[in-house]
Amino acid sequence: YKRITTNTLVEMKKNGEKVSMLTAYDYTMAKIVDGAGVDVILVGDSASNVMAGHETTLPITLDQMIYHASSVVRAIERALVVVDIPFGSYQSDPKEALRSAIRIMKESGAHAVKVEGGREIKESIKRILNAGIPVMGHLGLTPQSIYKFGTYTVRAKEEQEAQQLKEDAKMLERAGCFGIVLEKIPAKLAKEVAASVSIPIIGIGAGNGVDGQVLVLHDLLGMTHEFNPRFLRRYMNLFEDMTESIGQYVKDVKAVEFPNENEQY
Ligand code: KIV
Ligand code: NA
Repeated sequence: YKRITTNTLVEMKKNGEKVSMLTAYDYTMAKIVDGAGVDVILVGDSASNVMAGHETTLPITLDQMIYHASSVVRAIERALVVVDIPFGSYQSDPKEALRSAIRIMKESGAHAVKVEGGREIKESIKRILNAGIPVMGHLGLTPQSIYKFGTYTVRAKEEQEAQQLKEDAKMLERAGCFGIVLEKIPAKLAKEVAASVSIPIIGIGAGNGVDGQVLVLHDLLGMTHEFNPRFLRRYMNLFEDMTESIGQYVKDVKAVEFPNENEQY
């Protein structure tokens, strides 16, 4: 695929090809992620944690998300760019939700938005879709509701919540969403949901019975080292490599080993 669209993703599911998705929040990283062949780049509100150092995703603002998104959009040639609408910018009413989605699309040049929740935000999702803006859903452990959940443990282990999640996934498909992220739910349930809809289900901590996977870039690279959920696979240990390299730079500066004769004018 030369350029990924929301239709490409639905086609991938039909063909049994898994969707790769990863977060990025800035130009330099997005360029690497896009060049490496990732299908979907998520400008996640996890930027609140990863970029800004907040404890939750709640504090990040719409303006800040647009700043991250526009930086990412300038870097990509192939990936579909999806942007989280942040907490407080879509929950109060459908008009506000649409306004926020329009600002993201207009000011950043992104291709789609993502919102957390099911039936509670159905009307907002419809309003955004009516404006021609593709919407991705997000069910299961939805971090914007962390104070309702109280913990970051696995969701939908009980029958009632599992049933509600299944219905919400169906509703999101019917409403016209092009995909759904399922976060931290039992693998068996995620597989069942993936089999019940024709739009791609992208999992994080949801097992391999779904249509694709998403991770936070800085977790995959091992830049963050205090976050250790079972679902996380670290492909690098950049925390150690970077600490060592930067430590070496400090030593070299102190010892006047840097710069050397070839590194000066
Ligand atoms: O903000 C984010 O990074 C996300 C993914 C973890 C799905 O929503
Ligand atoms: Na998010």
